[in-house]
Amino acid sequence: MNTAININVEPEVVLAARNIAKSYGNTHALKGVNFDIYRGSVTTLFGENGAGKSTLMKILSGVISPTSGKIILDGQPINFASPSESRDLGISIIHQELSLAPNLSVRDNIFMGREIMTATGVNFSEEERQTRELMKELEEDIDPLTPVEDLRLGQQQIVEIARALSVNARILIMDEPTSALSASEVEVLFKIIRDLTSRGVSIVYISHHLEEALQITDHAVVLRDGTMTAYAERQDIDLEWIVRHMVGEGFDLGSPPAGYDFGKTSLSIKSLCIPDQSGNDFNVVDELSLDVREGEVVCLYGLMGSGRTELMECIAGRLKPSCGTIVLHEHDISKLTIAQRIDAGLVLVPEDRQRDGLVQTMSVGKNLSLASISAFTSKLLTSTKAEQSLIDRMIKDVTVKTASDTAEIGSLSGGNQQKVVIGKMLATNPKVILLDEPSRGIDIGAKAEVFKLLAERARAGLSVIYSTSEVGECLSIAHRIIVLSKGRIAGEFNSSASKEAIMAASGESVAH
Ligand SMILES: Nc1ncnc2c1ncn2[C@@H]1O[C@H](COP(=O)(O)OP(=O)(O)OP(=O)(O)O)[C@@H](O)[C@H]1O
Ligand SMILES: [Mg+2]
Repeated sequence: MNTAININVEPEVVLAARNIAKSYGNTHALKGVNFDIYRGSVTTLFGENGAGKSTLMKILSGVISPTSGKIILDGQPINFASPSESRDLGISIIHQELSLAPNLSVRDNIFMGREIMTATGVNFSEEERQTRELMKELEEDIDPLTPVEDLRLGQQQIVEIARALSVNARILIMDEPTSALSASEVEVLFKIIRDLTSRGVSIVYISHHLEEALQITDHAVVLRDGTMTAYAERQDIDLEWIVRHMVGEGFDLGSPPAGYDFGKTSLSIKSLCIPDQSGNDFNVVDELSLDVREGEVVCLYGLMGSGRTELMECIAGRLKPSCGTIVLHEHDISKLTIAQRIDAGLVLVPEDRQRDGLVQTMSVGKNLSLASISAFTSKLLTSTKAEQSLIDRMIKDVTVKTASDTAEIGSLSGGNQQKVVIGKMLATNPKVILLDEPSRGIDIGAKAEVFKLLAERARAGLSVIYSTSEVGECLSIAHRIIVLSKGRIAGEFNSSASKEAIMAASGESVAH
Protein backbone atom coordinates (compact mmCIF):
# COMPACT_ATOMS: atom_id res chain seq x y z
CA MET A 1 0.00 0.00 0.00
CA ASN A 2 1.97 2.99 1.27
CA THR A 3 5.27 1.18 1.37
CA ALA A 4 6.07 2.17 -2.21
CA ILE A 5 5.95 5.80 -1.20
CA ASN A 6 8.20 5.33 1.82
CA ILE A 7 10.73 3.07 0.30
CA ASN A 8 13.27 5.70 -0.69
CA VAL A 9 12.91 7.86 2.36
CA GLU A 10 16.05 7.72 4.51
CA PRO A 11 15.15 7.41 8.16
CA GLU A 12 16.12 10.51 10.09
CA VAL A 13 18.96 10.11 12.56
CA VAL A 14 18.18 12.03 15.74
CA LEU A 15 21.07 10.99 17.94
CA ALA A 16 24.37 9.55 16.79
CA ALA A 17 27.53 8.29 18.42
CA ARG A 18 30.69 8.78 16.40
CA ASN A 19 33.87 6.90 17.17
CA ILE A 20 33.03 6.64 20.86
CA ALA A 21 35.64 5.06 23.10
CA LYS A 22 35.47 4.50 26.83
CA SER A 23 38.17 3.00 29.02
CA TYR A 24 38.29 2.17 32.71
CA GLY A 25 41.96 1.71 33.42
CA ASN A 26 42.97 -1.22 31.25
CA THR A 27 39.38 -2.19 30.46
CA HIS A 28 38.38 -0.87 27.06
CA ALA A 29 34.62 -1.00 27.32
CA LEU A 30 34.05 0.76 23.98
CA LYS A 31 36.58 0.93 21.17
CA GLY A 32 35.42 3.52 18.65
CA VAL A 33 31.72 2.83 18.22
CA ASN A 34 29.40 4.40 15.64
CA PHE A 35 25.72 4.12 16.44
CA ASP A 36 22.60 5.83 15.06
CA ILE A 37 19.20 6.30 16.64
CA TYR A 38 16.40 6.86 14.13
CA ARG A 39 13.30 8.97 14.57
CA GLY A 40 10.13 7.05 15.31
CA SER A 41 11.62 3.59 15.38
CA VAL A 42 13.05 0.95 17.68
CA THR A 43 16.75 0.21 17.45
CA THR A 44 17.68 -2.95 19.32
CA LEU A 45 21.16 -3.41 20.68
CA PHE A 46 22.31 -7.00 21.11
CA GLY A 47 25.55 -8.21 22.64
CA GLU A 48 27.10 -10.52 25.20
CA ASN A 49 27.56 -9.59 28.86
CA GLY A 50 30.23 -6.95 29.12
CA ALA A 51 30.07 -6.07 25.40
CA GLY A 52 29.58 -2.41 26.32
CA LYS A 53 25.83 -1.90 25.76
CA SER A 54 25.04 -0.17 29.05
CA THR A 55 28.22 1.88 28.83
CA LEU A 56 27.20 3.20 25.41
CA MET A 57 23.69 4.01 26.62
CA LYS A 58 25.02 5.81 29.69
CA ILE A 59 27.19 7.93 27.42
CA LEU A 60 24.28 8.72 25.09
CA SER A 61 22.17 9.83 28.05
CA GLY A 62 24.87 11.91 29.70
CA VAL A 63 25.29 9.70 32.78
CA ILE A 64 28.99 9.23 32.02
CA SER A 65 31.29 10.90 29.50
CA PRO A 66 33.24 9.09 26.81
CA THR A 67 37.03 8.92 26.84
CA SER A 68 36.92 10.11 23.24
CA GLY A 69 34.49 10.51 20.36
CA LYS A 70 31.47 12.64 19.59
CA ILE A 71 27.76 12.65 20.28
CA ILE A 72 25.62 14.36 17.69
CA LEU A 73 22.08 15.47 18.50
CA ASP A 74 19.96 16.74 15.60
CA GLY A 75 23.09 17.17 13.51
CA GLN A 76 24.95 19.20 16.16
CA PRO A 77 27.84 17.93 18.31
CA ILE A 78 26.95 18.05 21.98
CA ASN A 79 28.58 17.56 25.38
CA PHE A 80 26.22 16.71 28.20
CA ALA A 81 27.21 18.37 31.44
CA SER A 82 24.87 16.09 33.44
CA PRO A 83 22.02 13.59 33.07
CA SER A 84 19.54 16.37 33.84
CA GLU A 85 20.83 18.29 30.83
CA SER A 86 20.22 15.33 28.52
CA ARG A 87 16.78 14.92 30.08
CA ASP A 88 16.01 18.58 29.31
CA LEU A 89 17.00 17.84 25.71
CA GLY A 90 14.45 15.01 25.61
CA ILE A 91 16.57 11.94 26.34
CA SER A 92 15.39 9.53 28.99
CA ILE A 93 16.86 6.22 30.19
CA ILE A 94 15.51 3.16 31.98
CA HIS A 95 18.52 1.73 33.75
CA GLN A 96 19.31 -1.99 33.80
CA GLU A 97 19.93 -1.91 37.55
CA LEU A 98 16.95 -0.32 39.25
CA SER A 99 17.78 3.12 40.59
CA LEU A 100 14.81 3.70 42.88
CA ALA A 101 14.81 4.87 46.49
CA PRO A 102 13.19 1.91 48.29
CA ASN A 103 11.76 3.84 51.23
CA LEU A 104 10.12 6.53 49.12
CA SER A 105 6.67 6.20 47.56
CA VAL A 106 6.05 5.40 43.92
CA ARG A 107 4.99 9.03 43.37
CA ASP A 108 8.09 10.49 45.01
CA ASN A 109 10.36 8.18 43.04
CA ILE A 110 8.78 9.24 39.78
CA PHE A 111 9.09 12.97 40.50
CA MET A 112 12.35 12.92 42.46
CA GLY A 113 14.55 15.81 41.32
CA ARG A 114 11.88 17.40 39.14
CA GLU A 115 9.01 18.02 41.52
CA ILE A 116 5.93 19.85 40.29
CA MET A 117 5.97 23.16 42.15
CA THR A 118 3.32 25.72 43.00
CA ALA A 119 3.92 29.07 44.70
CA THR A 120 3.57 27.40 48.09
CA GLY A 121 5.59 24.24 47.57
CA VAL A 122 5.41 20.82 45.94
CA ASN A 123 2.10 20.05 44.28
CA PHE A 124 1.76 16.53 45.68
CA SER A 125 -1.81 16.04 44.50
CA GLU A 126 -0.89 16.81 40.88
CA GLU A 127 2.09 14.45 41.14
CA GLU A 128 -0.21 11.80 42.53
CA ARG A 129 -2.72 12.33 39.72
CA GLN A 130 -0.03 12.00 37.07
CA THR A 131 1.35 8.87 38.75
CA ARG A 132 -2.14 7.35 38.71
CA GLU A 133 -2.40 8.15 34.98
CA LEU A 134 0.94 6.47 34.30
CA MET A 135 -0.05 3.36 36.23
CA LYS A 136 -3.30 3.23 34.28
CA GLU A 137 -1.40 3.48 31.03
CA LEU A 138 0.89 0.66 32.16
CA GLU A 139 -2.20 -1.32 33.28
CA GLU A 140 -0.70 -1.81 36.69
CA ASP A 141 -2.72 -1.63 39.88
CA ILE A 142 -0.19 0.18 42.06
CA ASP A 143 -1.16 2.92 44.50
CA PRO A 144 1.05 6.04 44.01
CA LEU A 145 1.66 6.28 47.76
CA THR A 146 2.99 2.72 48.21
CA PRO A 147 6.63 2.64 49.32
CA VAL A 148 8.70 1.08 46.53
CA GLU A 149 10.19 -1.50 48.92
CA ASP A 150 6.74 -3.05 49.34
CA LEU A 151 6.49 -3.82 45.62
CA ARG A 152 7.61 -7.03 43.97
CA LEU A 153 10.62 -6.76 41.68
CA GLY A 154 8.55 -6.62 38.47
CA GLN A 155 6.42 -3.81 39.86
CA GLN A 156 9.55 -1.88 40.80
CA GLN A 157 10.66 -2.25 37.22
CA ILE A 158 7.28 -0.83 36.14
CA VAL A 159 7.92 2.22 38.35
CA GLU A 160 11.32 2.65 36.73
CA ILE A 161 9.60 2.54 33.33
CA ALA A 162 6.89 4.98 34.49
CA ARG A 163 9.55 7.44 35.62
CA ALA A 164 11.24 7.34 32.23
CA LEU A 165 7.90 7.73 30.44
CA SER A 166 6.82 10.64 32.65
CA VAL A 167 9.52 12.84 31.17
CA ASN A 168 7.81 12.75 27.74
CA ALA A 169 11.16 12.17 26.13
CA ARG A 170 11.68 12.04 22.37
CA ILE A 171 14.52 9.54 22.76
CA LEU A 172 13.87 6.76 25.21
CA ILE A 173 16.61 4.28 26.07
CA MET A 174 15.49 1.01 27.64
CA ASP A 175 18.30 -1.09 29.11
CA GLU A 176 16.81 -4.52 29.96
CA PRO A 177 13.40 -3.06 30.84
CA THR A 178 11.57 -6.38 30.97
CA SER A 179 13.92 -8.68 32.88
CA ALA A 180 11.47 -9.02 35.80
CA LEU A 181 8.19 -8.45 33.96
CA SER A 182 5.47 -11.01 33.30
CA ALA A 183 4.40 -11.82 29.75
CA SER A 184 1.30 -9.65 30.00
CA GLU A 185 3.30 -6.73 31.41
CA VAL A 186 5.69 -7.04 28.47
CA GLU A 187 2.73 -6.94 26.10
CA VAL A 188 1.52 -3.69 27.64
CA LEU A 189 5.00 -2.20 27.39
CA PHE A 190 5.24 -3.15 23.72
CA LYS A 191 1.87 -1.51 23.05
CA ILE A 192 3.19 1.66 24.67
CA ILE A 193 6.41 1.47 22.64
CA ARG A 194 4.41 1.21 19.41
CA ASP A 195 2.27 4.13 20.42
CA LEU A 196 5.39 6.19 21.19
CA THR A 197 7.14 5.40 17.91
CA SER A 198 4.01 6.28 15.95
CA ARG A 199 4.26 9.70 17.58
CA GLY A 200 7.88 10.04 16.45
CA VAL A 201 9.63 8.95 19.65
CA SER A 202 12.89 7.04 19.11
CA ILE A 203 13.56 3.96 21.20
CA VAL A 204 16.74 2.07 21.95
CA TYR A 205 15.96 -1.37 23.31
CA ILE A 206 18.38 -3.78 25.02
CA SER A 207 17.41 -7.26 26.13
CA HIS A 208 18.75 -10.76 26.57
CA HIS A 209 15.23 -12.07 25.92
CA LEU A 210 16.10 -12.41 22.27
CA GLU A 211 12.75 -13.67 20.97
CA GLU A 212 10.95 -10.93 22.80
CA ALA A 213 13.28 -8.22 21.50
CA LEU A 214 12.84 -9.53 17.98
CA GLN A 215 9.12 -8.76 18.18
CA ILE A 216 9.71 -5.06 18.72
CA THR A 217 12.81 -4.44 16.60
CA ASP A 218 12.98 -2.14 13.56
CA HIS A 219 16.78 -1.95 13.28
CA ALA A 220 19.17 -4.30 15.01
CA VAL A 221 22.82 -3.82 15.86
CA VAL A 222 25.27 -6.14 17.55
CA LEU A 223 28.05 -4.97 19.82
CA ARG A 224 30.91 -7.34 20.49
CA ASP A 225 33.81 -6.55 22.82
CA GLY A 226 33.29 -2.82 22.50
CA THR A 227 33.01 -2.84 18.71
CA MET A 228 29.94 -2.69 16.48
CA THR A 229 29.97 -5.90 14.45
CA ALA A 230 26.63 -6.18 12.67
CA TYR A 231 23.69 -4.11 11.54
CA ALA A 232 20.46 -5.16 9.84
CA GLU A 233 16.89 -4.06 9.21
CA ARG A 234 13.93 -5.91 10.67
CA GLN A 235 13.08 -7.85 7.53
CA ASP A 236 16.60 -9.29 7.40
CA ILE A 237 16.94 -10.62 10.92
CA ASP A 238 15.72 -13.63 12.82
CA LEU A 239 16.77 -15.40 16.00
CA GLU A 240 19.49 -17.31 14.19
CA TRP A 241 20.97 -14.01 12.87
CA ILE A 242 21.17 -12.58 16.39
CA VAL A 243 22.69 -15.69 17.96
CA ARG A 244 25.19 -16.09 15.10
CA HIS A 245 26.41 -12.52 15.47
CA MET A 246 26.47 -12.62 19.26
CA VAL A 247 28.17 -15.94 19.91
CA GLY A 248 29.01 -17.55 16.57
CA GLU A 249 27.78 -20.36 14.28
CA GLY A 250 26.23 -23.60 15.46
CA PHE A 251 25.29 -22.44 18.93
CA ASP A 252 23.14 -24.74 21.06
CA LEU A 253 21.76 -24.28 24.58
CA GLY A 254 22.26 -27.99 25.21
CA SER A 255 20.05 -30.65 26.72
CA PRO A 256 19.49 -32.08 30.22
CA PRO A 257 22.44 -34.09 31.60
CA ALA A 258 22.04 -37.78 30.78
CA GLY A 259 23.75 -41.16 31.22
CA TYR A 260 23.49 -41.59 34.98
CA ASP A 261 20.93 -42.66 37.59
CA PHE A 262 19.48 -40.37 40.19
CA GLY A 263 20.38 -41.06 43.82
CA LYS A 264 18.31 -40.88 46.97
CA THR A 265 15.64 -38.28 47.64
CA SER A 266 17.49 -35.17 48.76
CA LEU A 267 14.66 -32.72 49.27
CA SER A 268 11.16 -33.65 50.26
CA ILE A 269 8.43 -31.08 50.61
CA LYS A 270 5.17 -32.21 52.17
CA SER A 271 1.83 -30.35 52.07
CA LEU A 272 3.48 -26.93 52.20
CA CYS A 273 1.23 -23.87 52.58
CA ILE A 274 2.46 -20.29 52.33
CA PRO A 275 0.04 -17.49 53.15
CA ASP A 276 -0.28 -14.45 50.88
CA GLN A 277 2.40 -11.99 51.95
CA SER A 278 0.17 -8.90 51.69
CA GLY A 279 -2.20 -10.32 54.28
CA ASN A 280 -4.99 -11.45 51.93
CA ASP A 281 -6.90 -14.50 52.97
CA PHE A 282 -5.50 -17.16 50.64
CA ASN A 283 -2.41 -19.29 50.23
CA VAL A 284 0.12 -18.42 47.50
CA VAL A 285 1.38 -21.97 47.83
CA ASP A 286 -1.35 -24.42 48.71
CA GLU A 287 -0.66 -27.89 50.15
CA LEU A 288 2.19 -28.48 47.74
CA SER A 289 4.29 -31.65 47.86
CA LEU A 290 7.43 -32.29 45.84
CA ASP A 291 10.35 -34.71 46.03
CA VAL A 292 13.67 -34.11 44.30
CA ARG A 293 16.43 -36.68 44.01
CA GLU A 294 20.23 -36.44 43.98
CA GLY A 295 21.40 -35.55 40.50
CA GLU A 296 17.99 -34.45 39.35
CA VAL A 297 17.30 -31.09 37.67
CA VAL A 298 13.74 -29.93 38.20
CA CYS A 299 12.34 -26.86 36.51
CA LEU A 300 9.56 -24.88 38.15
CA TYR A 301 7.60 -23.18 35.42
CA GLY A 302 4.73 -20.82 36.00
CA LEU A 303 3.43 -17.34 35.37
CA MET A 304 4.21 -14.43 37.65
CA GLY A 305 2.06 -14.97 40.72
CA SER A 306 2.01 -18.76 40.39
CA GLY A 307 3.85 -19.07 43.69
CA ARG A 308 7.27 -19.98 42.26
CA THR A 309 9.24 -17.28 44.06
CA GLU A 310 7.40 -17.79 47.36
CA LEU A 311 7.97 -21.54 47.21
CA MET A 312 11.71 -21.07 46.69
CA GLU A 313 11.97 -18.41 49.38
CA CYS A 314 10.14 -20.64 51.82
CA ILE A 315 12.36 -23.65 51.13
CA ALA A 316 15.41 -21.41 51.67
CA GLY A 317 14.01 -20.08 54.95
CA ARG A 318 13.07 -16.57 53.91
CA LEU A 319 9.33 -17.09 54.30
CA LYS A 320 7.48 -18.99 57.02
CA PRO A 321 5.06 -21.69 55.93
CA SER A 322 1.70 -21.96 57.68
CA CYS A 323 1.68 -25.73 57.33
CA GLY A 324 3.77 -28.57 55.94
CA THR A 325 7.36 -29.74 56.28
CA ILE A 326 10.63 -29.39 54.39
CA VAL A 327 12.99 -32.34 54.72
CA LEU A 328 16.60 -32.29 53.53
CA HIS A 329 18.30 -35.69 53.52
CA GLU A 330 15.89 -37.01 56.12
CA HIS A 331 16.30 -34.03 58.46
CA ASP A 332 13.39 -31.70 58.98
CA ILE A 333 14.82 -28.24 58.23
CA SER A 334 11.52 -26.36 58.52
CA LYS A 335 12.62 -24.60 61.71
CA LEU A 336 16.19 -23.78 60.68
CA THR A 337 17.41 -20.25 59.87
CA ILE A 338 18.64 -19.30 56.38
CA ALA A 339 22.29 -19.61 57.50
CA GLN A 340 21.67 -23.02 59.10
CA ARG A 341 20.06 -24.24 55.89
CA ILE A 342 23.09 -23.04 53.89
CA ASP A 343 25.32 -24.97 56.28
CA ALA A 344 23.09 -28.01 55.86
CA GLY A 345 23.65 -27.77 52.09
CA LEU A 346 20.61 -25.93 50.77
CA VAL A 347 21.11 -22.58 49.02
CA LEU A 348 19.05 -20.11 47.02
CA VAL A 349 20.11 -17.84 44.17
CA PRO A 350 17.51 -15.13 44.73
CA GLU A 351 15.46 -13.29 42.15
CA ASP A 352 16.60 -9.82 43.21
CA ARG A 353 20.39 -9.74 42.99
CA GLN A 354 20.67 -6.07 43.96
CA ARG A 355 18.82 -6.50 47.21
CA ASP A 356 19.56 -10.05 48.27
CA GLY A 357 22.40 -11.40 46.23
CA LEU A 358 25.34 -9.02 46.43
CA VAL A 359 27.08 -6.69 48.83
CA GLN A 360 27.66 -3.60 46.72
CA THR A 361 30.54 -2.27 48.80
CA MET A 362 32.57 -5.46 48.44
CA SER A 363 34.87 -6.72 45.72
CA VAL A 364 33.99 -9.39 43.18
CA GLY A 365 36.14 -11.91 45.06
CA LYS A 366 34.70 -11.18 48.51
CA ASN A 367 31.18 -11.48 47.14
CA LEU A 368 32.07 -14.86 45.68
CA SER A 369 33.48 -16.26 48.91
CA LEU A 370 30.98 -14.61 51.26
CA ALA A 371 28.56 -17.50 51.64
CA SER A 372 31.36 -20.04 52.09
CA ILE A 373 33.13 -18.03 54.76
CA SER A 374 32.55 -20.58 57.52
CA ALA A 375 34.62 -23.08 55.52
CA PHE A 376 37.71 -20.87 55.92
CA THR A 377 37.48 -19.63 59.46
CA SER A 378 38.29 -22.93 61.16
CA LYS A 379 41.76 -23.12 59.66
CA LEU A 380 42.85 -19.52 60.08
CA LEU A 381 46.38 -20.01 58.83
CA THR A 382 45.51 -21.45 55.46
CA SER A 383 42.29 -19.52 55.12
CA THR A 384 43.36 -16.73 52.77
CA LYS A 385 45.03 -19.15 50.41
CA ALA A 386 42.06 -21.49 50.32
CA GLU A 387 39.72 -18.55 49.90
CA GLN A 388 41.77 -17.15 47.03
CA SER A 389 41.86 -20.46 45.21
CA LEU A 390 38.09 -20.80 45.61
CA ILE A 391 37.63 -17.28 44.22
CA ASP A 392 39.90 -18.00 41.25
CA ARG A 393 38.08 -21.24 40.51
CA MET A 394 34.62 -19.70 40.72
CA ILE A 395 35.54 -16.75 38.46
CA LYS A 396 36.62 -19.33 35.90
CA ASP A 397 33.71 -21.72 36.44
CA VAL A 398 30.97 -19.14 36.02
CA THR A 399 33.03 -17.17 33.44
CA VAL A 400 32.89 -13.81 35.20
CA LYS A 401 34.29 -11.02 33.04
CA THR A 402 36.16 -8.76 35.45
CA ALA A 403 39.38 -6.77 35.40
CA SER A 404 40.41 -8.55 38.62
CA ASP A 405 38.88 -10.25 41.65
CA THR A 406 39.56 -7.12 43.69
CA ALA A 407 37.43 -4.93 41.38
CA GLU A 408 34.26 -3.51 42.93
CA ILE A 409 31.18 -5.56 42.16
CA GLY A 410 29.51 -2.42 40.75
CA SER A 411 32.11 -2.18 37.99
CA LEU A 412 30.84 -5.43 36.44
CA SER A 413 28.25 -5.48 33.70
CA GLY A 414 24.75 -6.50 34.81
CA GLY A 415 24.99 -10.05 33.53
CA ASN A 416 28.39 -10.59 35.10
CA GLN A 417 27.02 -9.51 38.49
CA GLN A 418 24.36 -12.18 38.08
CA LYS A 419 27.05 -14.77 37.38
CA VAL A 420 28.76 -13.79 40.65
CA VAL A 421 25.53 -14.50 42.57
CA ILE A 422 25.34 -17.96 41.02
CA GLY A 423 29.05 -18.58 41.67
CA LYS A 424 28.76 -17.46 45.27
CA MET A 425 26.11 -20.09 45.96
CA LEU A 426 27.81 -22.89 44.03
CA ALA A 427 30.99 -22.15 45.98
CA THR A 428 29.34 -23.40 49.17
CA ASN A 429 29.24 -26.89 47.63
CA PRO A 430 25.54 -27.33 48.20
CA LYS A 431 23.54 -30.54 48.05
CA VAL A 432 20.48 -28.72 46.80
CA ILE A 433 20.51 -25.45 44.88
CA LEU A 434 17.44 -23.37 44.17
CA LEU A 435 17.74 -20.81 41.40
CA ASP A 436 15.01 -18.21 40.95
CA GLU A 437 15.11 -16.80 37.40
CA PRO A 438 18.90 -17.05 37.35
CA SER A 439 19.24 -16.24 33.68
CA ARG A 440 17.89 -12.73 34.19
CA GLY A 441 20.26 -10.45 32.32
CA ILE A 442 22.77 -13.11 31.29
CA ASP A 443 23.55 -13.56 27.63
CA ILE A 444 22.77 -16.70 25.71
CA GLY A 445 26.41 -17.85 25.68
CA ALA A 446 26.72 -17.38 29.44
CA LYS A 447 23.41 -19.16 29.94
CA ALA A 448 24.84 -22.17 28.14
CA GLU A 449 27.94 -21.99 30.39
CA VAL A 450 25.79 -21.89 33.52
CA PHE A 451 23.71 -24.82 32.25
CA LYS A 452 26.88 -26.79 31.59
CA LEU A 453 28.14 -26.09 35.08
CA LEU A 454 24.82 -27.07 36.69
CA ALA A 455 24.74 -30.22 34.59
CA GLU A 456 28.25 -31.17 35.75
CA ARG A 457 27.31 -30.60 39.37
CA ALA A 458 24.07 -32.55 38.91
CA ARG A 459 26.05 -35.46 37.52
CA ALA A 460 28.08 -35.37 40.74
CA GLY A 461 24.89 -35.56 42.81
CA LEU A 462 23.66 -31.98 43.17
CA SER A 463 19.87 -31.50 43.10
CA VAL A 464 18.87 -28.45 41.10
CA ILE A 465 15.57 -26.64 41.29
CA TYR A 466 15.40 -24.00 38.60
CA SER A 467 12.61 -21.49 38.23
CA THR A 468 12.05 -19.62 35.01
CA SER A 469 9.40 -18.02 32.85
CA GLU A 470 11.09 -19.19 29.65
CA VAL A 471 9.86 -22.61 28.56
CA GLY A 472 12.83 -23.08 26.26
CA GLU A 473 15.16 -22.96 29.25
CA CYS A 474 13.21 -25.71 31.05
CA LEU A 475 13.48 -28.00 28.07
CA SER A 476 17.23 -27.39 27.74
CA ILE A 477 18.16 -28.12 31.32
CA ALA A 478 15.51 -30.04 33.25
CA HIS A 479 14.79 -33.73 33.62
CA ARG A 480 11.39 -32.87 35.00
CA ILE A 481 9.24 -29.79 34.51
CA ILE A 482 6.72 -28.93 37.19
CA VAL A 483 4.12 -26.39 36.15
CA LEU A 484 2.78 -24.25 38.95
CA SER A 485 -0.46 -22.38 38.80
CA LYS A 486 -2.07 -20.54 41.71
CA GLY A 487 0.21 -22.25 44.20
CA ARG A 488 -0.53 -25.80 43.09
CA ILE A 489 1.07 -28.26 40.72
CA ALA A 490 -0.87 -27.98 37.47
CA GLY A 491 1.19 -30.35 35.38
CA GLU A 492 4.32 -32.46 35.27
CA PHE A 493 6.37 -33.08 32.12
CA ASN A 494 9.67 -34.51 30.97
CA SER A 495 12.09 -32.77 28.62
CA SER A 496 10.51 -34.25 25.51
CA ALA A 497 7.28 -32.33 26.15
CA SER A 498 6.24 -29.58 23.76
CA LYS A 499 6.48 -25.91 24.69
CA GLU A 500 2.78 -25.53 23.92
CA ALA A 501 1.73 -28.28 26.33
CA ILE A 502 3.76 -26.76 29.16
CA MET A 503 2.48 -23.27 28.53
CA ALA A 504 -1.11 -24.48 28.28
CA ALA A 505 -0.81 -26.23 31.66
CA SER A 506 0.33 -22.96 33.22
CA GLY A 507 -2.77 -21.18 31.97
CA GLU A 508 -0.77 -19.09 29.54
CA SER A 509 -2.15 -18.20 26.13
CA VAL A 510 -0.11 -19.93 23.43
CA ALA A 511 -1.21 -17.62 20.64
CA HIS A 512 2.23 -16.16 19.99
N1 LIG B 1 32.47 1.78 36.49
C1 LIG B 1 33.19 0.85 35.87
N2 LIG B 1 34.47 0.59 36.26
C2 LIG B 1 35.22 -0.36 35.63
N3 LIG B 1 34.79 -1.10 34.60
C3 LIG B 1 33.54 -0.89 34.16
C4 LIG B 1 32.67 0.09 34.77
N4 LIG B 1 31.50 0.07 34.11
C5 LIG B 1 31.61 -0.88 33.14
N5 LIG B 1 32.83 -1.45 33.17
C6 LIG B 1 33.32 -2.52 32.27
O1 LIG B 1 33.00 -2.18 30.94
C7 LIG B 1 32.64 -3.34 30.20
C8 LIG B 1 31.29 -3.12 29.54
O2 LIG B 1 30.27 -3.14 30.53
P1 LIG B 1 28.73 -2.87 30.21
O3 LIG B 1 28.05 -2.72 31.51
O4 LIG B 1 28.62 -1.75 29.25
O5 LIG B 1 28.31 -4.24 29.48
P2 LIG B 1 26.89 -4.69 28.91
O6 LIG B 1 27.04 -4.91 27.45
O7 LIG B 1 25.84 -3.72 29.34
O8 LIG B 1 26.70 -6.10 29.60
P3 LIG B 1 25.38 -6.83 30.24
O9 LIG B 1 24.70 -7.54 29.13
O10 LIG B 1 25.97 -7.81 31.20
O11 LIG B 1 24.56 -5.80 30.90
C9 LIG B 1 32.69 -4.50 31.18
O12 LIG B 1 33.91 -5.16 31.03
C10 LIG B 1 32.60 -3.83 32.54
O13 LIG B 1 33.22 -4.60 33.54
MG1 LIG C 1 24.28 -3.87 30.64
